[in-house]
Amino acid sequence: MVKRSKSSDRWLQRQRKDQFVRKAQGGGQISRAHFKLEQLDQRYKLIKPRRNVLELGAAPGGWTNYLEERLDGGLLIAIDPLPITCGDNTYVIEGFAGEPEVDAEIERILAGEKLDLVLSDMAPNISGVRTVDQARSMDLADVSLDSCYRWMNLRGCMAIKAFQGEGLDDWVKDLKKCFKQVHMTKPKASRPESREVFVVAIDFVP
Ligand SMILES: C[S@@+](CC[C@H](N)C(=O)[O-])C[C@H]1O[C@@H](n2cnc3c(N)ncnc32)[C@H](O)[C@@H]1O
Repeated sequence: MVKRSKSSDRWLQRQRKDQFVRKAQGGGQISRAHFKLEQLDQRYKLIKPRRNVLELGAAPGGWTNYLEERLDGGLLIAIDPLPITCGDNTYVIEGFAGEPEVDAEIERILAGEKLDLVLSDMAPNISGVRTVDQARSMDLADVSLDSCYRWMNLRGCMAIKAFQGEGLDDWVKDLKKCFKQVHMTKPKASRPESREVFVVAIDFVP
């Protein structure tokens, strides 16, 4: 019999009890993260047909799948160093968002077009040192915002995962200078014990 560590036992128990894990297994969704995007979309009406979307941190593909079902002809670019399960029309870039080669590939795919929506579910590799992990998560938030400055259409939107902690409130305050509406929200599918929140920014007016 395989001997598991206490922490993986705890993880397994939590997965078995989690209503959104069970819902994803029952409904054929790729990941429980699917429901976070669904809840954000239902509340803020982010995803509309024929929009150009950049999705950062897309593996294993729960959000990608949700987007593919709704974009109906729009352009979807999904980025992650890990494999993404997706349809043929999605442009996948295997790599880390913010790296020059990845940026060059985005430019090539967009070919002068602009984005309507930037999404990020990126999470840093957790070191266990809270200040380090918080700094890494703020770096990822900056990568998403840089994408808006480089490629977003006027009035575009952004929705990104962030972690409550040092720097986030000031970052959100600054965001209000370039988006008309900014909301910080925690969808029901986000685990209550997690510091994870989502920042939704609407109407890009740089
Ligand atoms: C929570 S998972 C995303 C789940 C996904 N939204 C879904 O619905 O299946 C976070 C992902 O962020 C990715 N990630 C972390 N840093 C990244 C970066 N700089 N660029 C792209 N992806 C990154 C990780 O590889 C991981 O796959």
